[in-house]
Amino acid sequence: MSSAAPAPAPVVVARDLVKCYAPARRGGAETVVLTGVDLTVDPGEFVAIVGPSGSGKSTLLYCLAGLEPPTRGQVLLLGEDPAKLSRGRLARLRRRDVGFVFQLFNLIPSLSARQNVALPARLSGRRVHSADVTAALAAVGLEDRGSHRPGELSGGQQQRVAIARVLAARPRIVFADEPTGALDGATGTAVLGLLSEAAHSGSAVILVTHDLDAAARADRVIVLRDGAIHGQLHSPTPADVFAAVHAHAASVGAQR
Ligand SMILES: Nc1ncnc2c1ncn2[C@@H]1O[C@H](COP(=O)(O)OP(=O)(O)OP(=O)(O)O)[C@@H](O)[C@H]1O
Ligand SMILES: [Mg+2]
Repeated sequence: MSSAAPAPAPVVVARDLVKCYAPARRGGAETVVLTGVDLTVDPGEFVAIVGPSGSGKSTLLYCLAGLEPPTRGQVLLLGEDPAKLSRGRLARLRRRDVGFVFQLFNLIPSLSARQNVALPARLSGRRVHSADVTAALAAVGLEDRGSHRPGELSGGQQQRVAIARVLAARPRIVFADEPTGALDGATGTAVLGLLSEAAHSGSAVILVTHDLDAAARADRVIVLRDGAIHGQLHSPTPADVFAAVHAHAASVGAQR
């Protein structure tokens, strides 16, 4: 008899996920963005999604996060189908267990950096420890900007506050769309290090990025092309990721 522990439940599952947008005007063509994506992400996994502009990366992230309903197929987020949850339950699930880092930072303009960082925990009714907020801001190099409001910070600093906010909340899964887009090289590298640490301390991280070096920090890289998974790479080098993104359709897709 085998005594192996059961595999942990995945944090995200997509089954034959199809996403279409209705035509913008009557008689126009529907936009088919995702054409049938199957994907499973386990706890603590650091997964990067790469692919050409317009290939559907952000749309896939929004569908996995329950922010966009799939047209067909199914998503399970932490074991729940977002399409079947009430708005209230979905909002609670997101507040408690999900962190988002988007290109638009979604900081609250009237709150200070410290208050923004503490917000997810406050909203989900958890005690906020001042030391956790300080540590999260220090981790992104903003310990001296805690009292600044977003309008008093640069774009890259706002992005770092958004990342500190995710780290302080210790979610079970982090969705990040181009989190290093507004950062200089050194700060971007520091932020990736933090995301990778978050993954290795138990949060799953799903990162959409154009940055080959960023993608190469992930345990697994998914190459999206025309709304479908075109290949997967395990612990690739930046050169491997480049080759997979730029290779012709016929030559990519091999599972390594
Ligand atoms: N709300 C929408 N309505 C109609 N079409 C949309 C909508 N959102 C996205 N699309 C289309 O879906 C396709 C994929 O968009 P998506 O934002 O997912 O691409 P992406 O891979 O993230 O690209 P990028 O790297 O440029 O951010 C694009 O052709 C886009 O025009
Ligand atoms: Mg995008």
